[in-house]
Amino acid sequence: MMTKNILQTLQGTRTNTIPIWFMRQAGRYLPEYHKIRAQAGSFLNLCYNPVLATEVSLQPLRRFDLDASIFFADILVIPDALGQKVTFKDGIGPVLHVPDNKTDFLHIMEKNIPKIHDTLNPLYETLDRLKIALPNNKTLLGFSGCPWTIATYMILGHGKKNLQDCLEFFDNNSHFLTPFIEILCESIAEYCIKQIYAGADVIQLFESWAGVLYGRHLEILSEAPITKIIAQIKKVHPKTPIIVFAKNYNGNLEYLYETTHCDAVSLTSTDDIQSSTKIYPVQGCLDPQILKSGIGLEQEIYRICDILKDRPHIFNLSHGINKETPISHVEKAISIIKGYK
Ligand code: CP3
Repeated sequence: MMTKNILQTLQGTRTNTIPIWFMRQAGRYLPEYHKIRAQAGSFLNLCYNPVLATEVSLQPLRRFDLDASIFFADILVIPDALGQKVTFKDGIGPVLHVPDNKTDFLHIMEKNIPKIHDTLNPLYETLDRLKIALPNNKTLLGFSGCPWTIATYMILGHGKKNLQDCLEFFDNNSHFLTPFIEILCESIAEYCIKQIYAGADVIQLFESWAGVLYGRHLEILSEAPITKIIAQIKKVHPKTPIIVFAKNYNGNLEYLYETTHCDAVSLTSTDDIQSSTKIYPVQGCLDPQILKSGIGLEQEIYRICDILKDRPHIFNLSHGINKETPISHVEKAISIIKGYK
């Protein structure tokens, strides 16, 4: 019987070989991605086209011995589904229209919660198709952004502004903050629940901008919403493992694991990964810059695998793969990790 080694790891078992997938494993470092991307026209067209999105999700698995496919989409489909227009501009990244009147903004989003699946249905179809296409030993990953990370784009209008401005906005608009985070929690939980019905074996929650939050902000904007989302998903799908990726998290990772009731924590390369006293599954945490440059690649992979050798460990990066990463470096990294004993 073929088993999914990622699922075994997430259930707490240390597998013979370390399972691997890479955040943003489908994308611009692959020439075959560019072909499909050009065919789709815009990036969101690609996300909402189940045939093409299935194809780009499978591309990295055709080249590399990876243990999972992450379905192709983006964290910003949630604002799009809630009625906030999102576009992706070449060389700039995502651009979102931010309404001046925040009360109207809340009303529009509230009205759209029951309708988000009308927009998101093609993504569930991508998962359906991947489920059929993947061999039994490969894990199908669903994902969503977390409320705070998505909110930064929704409030600032794009990703390259100062995240402190978003905190400032929330501090000055607490009447907006509570219902807004609530709308996001509900939409994200419903979205993940549907992904699991469509075939996702595991959900990863991306809190990519956790690193600017401390103390009370960290609790109310990130930890509490994530805990709530996980509880809602687990009410419907108690057996589906959930991985939390809180990049540059300014807290104790064991606490994050325990309060949110997630099944694994995805580590950042700068985390103190040595001092954990509790054994729980972890994912990570090669710096994508090292994968890109190739300098010290082998030593760094050994260092990470050695530190985590007594724990259930899924190998991954500490954030998304860089688009200039040579394919030969990815091949080399995978062969080192697969050979690790
Ligand atoms: O392979 C996979 O991991 C699945 C697909 C995936 C994408 N984005 C595809 C994508 C996933 C899981 C994401 C998550 C995502 N999107 C995050 C969290 C992870 C992280 O990297 O921190 C964030 C912050 C976003 C928001 C986002 N999407 C930005 C800021 C950008 C523009 C910057 C950039 O890298 O171009 C995107 C666009 C995007 N999402 C691309 C891809 C392949 C590039 C779009 C293109 O082809 O032009």
